[in-house]
Amino acid sequence: MPARIVGTGSALPALCISNQKLEEYIDTTDEWIRSRTGIEERHIAVEETTASMAVSAAKAAMENAGVKAQEIDLIIAGSVSGDMCFPSLACQIQGAVLAENAIAFDVNAACAGFLFGLSIAEAYFTSGMAKTALIIGAETLSKMMDWNDRSTCVLFGDGAGAAIVKKDEKGIMGLVQGSDGGRGDALTCQNRPVNNPFVKNPTDLDYTKMDGQAVYRFAVKTVPASITQALEKAGVDAGEVKYFLLHQANIRIIEAVAKKLGQPIEKFPTNLQKCGNISAASVPILLDYVNKSGKLQKGDRIVLAGFGAGLTWAAAVLTW
Ligand code: UT7
Repeated sequence: MPARIVGTGSALPALCISNQKLEEYIDTTDEWIRSRTGIEERHIAVEETTASMAVSAAKAAMENAGVKAQEIDLIIAGSVSGDMCFPSLACQIQGAVLAENAIAFDVNAACAGFLFGLSIAEAYFTSGMAKTALIIGAETLSKMMDWNDRSTCVLFGDGAGAAIVKKDEKGIMGLVQGSDGGRGDALTCQNRPVNNPFVKNPTDLDYTKMDGQAVYRFAVKTVPASITQALEKAGVDAGEVKYFLLHQANIRIIEAVAKKLGQPIEKFPTNLQKCGNISAASVPILLDYVNKSGKLQKGDRIVLAGFGAGLTWAAAVLTW
């Protein structure tokens, strides 16, 4: 499959809020959040926007890849929390980085958004429609939360991650995706409610609602299965994989996936402790951390996996 990641970047808001700080605002405890999720702190946007973080991450990825804006012919942004209904986040990024030769559009696949973007880029490369893509996952989830609902607001954070992907014979070795709209009620956030002069009783703005245990059960079943399918497609044994970079929702989910795959937990880098769950941005931010820490060598096999609202999921086996 002709797509290789050649550079990464990320950006987080300046404000970092610890679990202890949250105790001042919400009926929760550091002990509950840590023991149930592994999360210790998260970054929360105050001055930053989804687009401003996305642009910072995109510029960092371009610099890391040594790719100029004019070379980019495809921009795909994964997000559920763009600043605007329109123009798209991808078009905002295009305008800011001056990638005038790109086509740009958004993908809403929630926490699998970055991987769905990667899959679309690969299809564009295969069909000859593009050669150099900028894929971004960016979120400001803090504005989508009911800050009186302790079961959701403590879990999520804000930030953006990006990657430059080039047409290349040796990049993506196996990729699987899935969706199950029939179970979509497990994790929802309504857009603006219908509100016009003809509506008698307009409803209020809605916030994120999650049946945590249903999403948990979905994740621990679907993620190992999708990774196994992607490995089979790639003809790669799990033992050959250097790192499994999973969506950062809950340390217990990551431990359960490692156990099901029979792989040591050391192969599963995490940053949920410092970032919380940042939906579409989780996987590319983690990938950037691992890349910039110098832990990846050319030719390494890595797995990326995302899962979340939709329900949606995706897993990819890559050669670095
Ligand atoms: O990115 C999308 C993917 N999302 C996920 O993968 C999330 C998957 N789900 C999870 O990670 C877990 O289900 C959660 C972390 C969301 C919740 O953990 P849980 O072990 O399933 O807890 P629970 O929802 O069953 O709640 C247990 C208790 C409840 O109290 P009672 O009814 O037993 O008295 C909650 O009211 O914990 C209480 N609780 C809290 N207590 C302190 C819920 N949230 C909090 C909180 N602080 N923040």
